[in-house]
Amino acid sequence: MNGSDRRVADAWIGESLLYVLRERLGLAGAKDGCSQGECGACNVQVDGRLVASCLVPAVTAAGTEVRTVEGLAKDGQPSDVQRALARCGAVQCGFCVPGMAMTVHDLLEGNPAPSELETRQALCGNLCRCSGYRGVVQAVQEVVAEREAAHAPEPEADTAGEARIPQQAGPGSGGTGPSAFEAPGAFDTPPPAPDGYGDMPGGYGDTPDGYHDTPPGYGAPGPHDQHYGQDGGQA
Ligand code: FES
Ligand code: FES
Repeated sequence: MNGSDRRVADAWIGESLLYVLRERLGLAGAKDGCSQGECGACNVQVDGRLVASCLVPAVTAAGTEVRTVEGLAKDGQPSDVQRALARCGAVQCGFCVPGMAMTVHDLLEGNPAPSELETRQALCGNLCRCSGYRGVVQAVQEVVAEREAAHAPEPEADTAGEARIPQQAGPGSGGTGPSAFEAPGAFDTPPPAPDGYGDMPGGYGDTPDGYHDTPPGYGAPGPHDQHYGQDGGQA
């Protein structure tokens, strides 16, 4: 029961789990709204599954792990769902709220980012005569946003706030680096290749295109320059 062993020795075999929770274990969070499985006010989790405790014979819960609304708090503080329900105005008379909180916790455990439709479908078994449900839906959205923000990765310190400008390779450069179009004299007739690399039969490498050979005044190769020919072969 909420993380600790609780023994019940004197229950009648037909008693409901809701009755045992409230009358024998003193856990009055789950409410008896209808005793017929219609209102959701008695919702608890048994082995991680949401159930209407008014319909569960207590004897079938022996040896299981039961979680009630009293088990949602951590270190004496209400859970994020409970705080959001209060903040969003979902708590009016409060009678339905323990069951509502259990349903929302159960929803978010199975679906961390439910749509509004999925939220409303999950809540369709919880009847509230006061709030109109809008506050509950808003509370779910706020909890989803809070949990996503808490788990968002930190931005990298060295690139934070700096615009990233992609470097576009010039035609035939074969890699990232300064474009041949930006180099002074790029369209000038290049000098003959010193080692015959460009002197292929048929003058293939001697095309005065300024791409194969380093144009005059281009400067020393930078750290990102790659020496590739127009045919993609590595120099
Ligand atoms: S009291 Fe269990 S569903 Fe209403
Ligand atoms: S707050 Fe009153 S029934 Fe839901």
